[in-house]
Amino acid sequence: MIRERAYPVDPWHVREVRLDMDVLAQSESVFALSNGHIGLRGNLDEGEPHGLPGTYLNSFYELRPLPYAEAGFGFPESGQTIVNVTNGKLIRLLVDDEPLDVRYGELLDHERVLDLRVGTLHRRLHWRSPAGREVKVSSTRLVSFTQRSVAAISYEVEAVGGPLRLILQSQLVANEALPAQSKDPRVAAVLESPLLAEEELTTKDGGLLIHRTKVSGLRVAAAMAHEVTGPEHTTVDSEGYEDWVRTTIGCVLAPGQKLRVVKYLAYGWSSRRSLPALRDQVGAALAAARLDGWDGLRRAQREHLDEFWDAADVRVEGDPEVQQAVRFGLFHVLQAGARAERRPISAKGLTGPGYDGHAFWDTEMFVLPVLTYTQPHAVRDALYWRHSTLDQAQDRARTLNLRGAAFPWRTIEGPESSAYWPAGTAAFHIAADVADAVRRYVLATGDTQLEREIGLELLVETARLWRSLGHHDRHGRYHIDGVTGPDEYTAVKNDNIYTNLMAQRNLLTAAEVAMRLRDEALDLGVTEEEAAAWRDAAHSMTIPYDEELDVHEQVEGFTRLQEWDFEHTPPDKYPLLLHFPYFDLYRKQVVKQADLVLAMHWRGDAFTAAQKTRNFNYYERRTVRDSSLSACTQAVLAAEVGDLQLAHAYLREAALMDLHDLNENTRDGVHMASLAGAWIALVAGFGGLRDHDGTLSFAPRLPSGLTRLEFSLQWRQSRVHVDVRSHQTTYALRPAGPVAAIELRHHGESVQVTRAQPTILPNPPAEPLAPVPEQPAGRAPLTHAPQ
Ligand code: BGC
Repeated sequence: MIRERAYPVDPWHVREVRLDMDVLAQSESVFALSNGHIGLRGNLDEGEPHGLPGTYLNSFYELRPLPYAEAGFGFPESGQTIVNVTNGKLIRLLVDDEPLDVRYGELLDHERVLDLRVGTLHRRLHWRSPAGREVKVSSTRLVSFTQRSVAAISYEVEAVGGPLRLILQSQLVANEALPAQSKDPRVAAVLESPLLAEEELTTKDGGLLIHRTKVSGLRVAAAMAHEVTGPEHTTVDSEGYEDWVRTTIGCVLAPGQKLRVVKYLAYGWSSRRSLPALRDQVGAALAAARLDGWDGLRRAQREHLDEFWDAADVRVEGDPEVQQAVRFGLFHVLQAGARAERRPISAKGLTGPGYDGHAFWDTEMFVLPVLTYTQPHAVRDALYWRHSTLDQAQDRARTLNLRGAAFPWRTIEGPESSAYWPAGTAAFHIAADVADAVRRYVLATGDTQLEREIGLELLVETARLWRSLGHHDRHGRYHIDGVTGPDEYTAVKNDNIYTNLMAQRNLLTAAEVAMRLRDEALDLGVTEEEAAAWRDAAHSMTIPYDEELDVHEQVEGFTRLQEWDFEHTPPDKYPLLLHFPYFDLYRKQVVKQADLVLAMHWRGDAFTAAQKTRNFNYYERRTVRDSSLSACTQAVLAAEVGDLQLAHAYLREAALMDLHDLNENTRDGVHMASLAGAWIALVAGFGGLRDHDGTLSFAPRLPSGLTRLEFSLQWRQSRVHVDVRSHQTTYALRPAGPVAAIELRHHGESVQVTRAQPTILPNPPAEPLAPVPEQPAGRAPLTHAPQ
């Protein structure tokens, strides 16, 4: 685990003040740069030592077989897995006759800074070689938001003390050897040498490599070029062979003199374009990068981020760690989605190989809610990506004897890549999650074009899935049987409450939109009868309830299952899935992650306030948070039911997941859902944001540890700025857009917020909660609210 405060608290930077080899891999994920298309892990420039080298391109994958001891009908035969592509970050340095390697000699100073406002990773080091030669190196890396195929590194070396002979080797390397991964089954499968060389080309100051994957047949091109500023007689030359290209720069530096190299990198990949076309594409991208130059790329990066922060920044007063963490989280969410452009946003973004680089429902239910209000164009792209996989989801539904679309539980490009049914395809709720993301996006943006072009079809095909997956019983009640909800410790059960409530909304939304867009719906074969059947199923949906205990049941019969023995489960047995057989988890009352509690967030309209409090108390005692997708939701509901301190503690757990490596697996990539969850915990938790009936509604209330919370939401043509203080909230349209006023709700009351002046309203105090919610033994929030 990264020790607390490994990165000093700073509102706009993540700074590492000394290199700690024990947490190198984690820091590579934390310091990963990406624009949603290219992802570079924060590996040291010289490549070694490393935790896990990583360079990724969105949707560049290899297929790997999914072997089964006993196969069954409909089991996927192969899975997609993200590939570590050609590494262009590598810059080795020979100082006199010693390679710069921080494991040797003396590291007099080492600092890395992720600058959240500029979008760069900066590194500064002062090194003394074993022979006593000293250099200072300063490098800055960026993955461009404005030129999506481009990354660049500015690398500067200064001789300290005596004159030095320097040889700098800047490289492109394919098929790097990867260290063995952990035994955790969730960690990506290692693929050895996945790339076949197709072309290698060198120019004087750079070169290019083109490779192809063996099975998926994707082609990748990587190119580099350098601008060198050094003393007289600096030499530049390049050579290459199949899997590597090396540009060698040599010079003799007098004390205080500097060598500066700007490395431009371009990446392109395709399943269809020819080799010459791809070669030209990266050549052109390099030319475009050089046109802007380092300063231009850096300036454009800053401008892009200025705009982003202007719309998306969240300001928190009272807890500086959360302030830093929520910005860090937003930065990674932006990185994952900014230029994904109709490609998936995966659970780790492009920061590591965890989960094979797959996208799950994390995208629609955790990342997209944040982007909907901060970067709506990225949501548009993500929905178009989902829609581009619709054919495959329809095929999958047919294989399963269902109608409509069965979206994959995990995938890169569309096919189901989960080999395990109970925690895979059985999690059919992903269909409703996709539908809800469409609903939320259209509501927030008014983008009727998307609704007509793809939204309707996504709603219709998911509604059809529910209509064929569920059934009316002899009393007319609608059931969805044999499914897995968000809680993966309860599998293949009847009437999961989250699934049923989300499916209910999916069915009703599909019927409403289909009747509004009649022509388009007719083209999809939707009749009035079909829409009526959707409404009918929705209105008769079973919502399991235990009358005796007066709480909802997460699935039918959940509350009568045997209790888990938390008292005798020691801390080292968590996460439970790595220490207990699934059959045991499945038949007891133990909850991996918010499920019913998640339903109370997104379908809060289906519960009374009293039910929410009782349910929260009941499930809080049984939820172990073995998934990082849980804390943020528990924060939202803890805030709603009035336990603001607990909400604060969960907010901190979600927000600090990667900065503190709380689950000890940040090495495989950051937890995108949890990072997005920090925003959700603040905005939906303490801000109380909900959109159940199409009206933006808030119920702001701060815990004693926070004195102020400010955030902005894009809503149609306006930007709503919300400024929450302990006793009051100020709503403003900022900047004043074309809309004169919008209607929203504050603690249940309708209010008009006008362009002319801000609206200030009091925050009613929270009712004290009795009994105080408790967690299972040993499972209190991982990082407590500061005292
Ligand atoms: C969680 C899932 C999640 C997946 C990827 C699992 O551990 O249980 O809900 O989608 O991780 O983040």
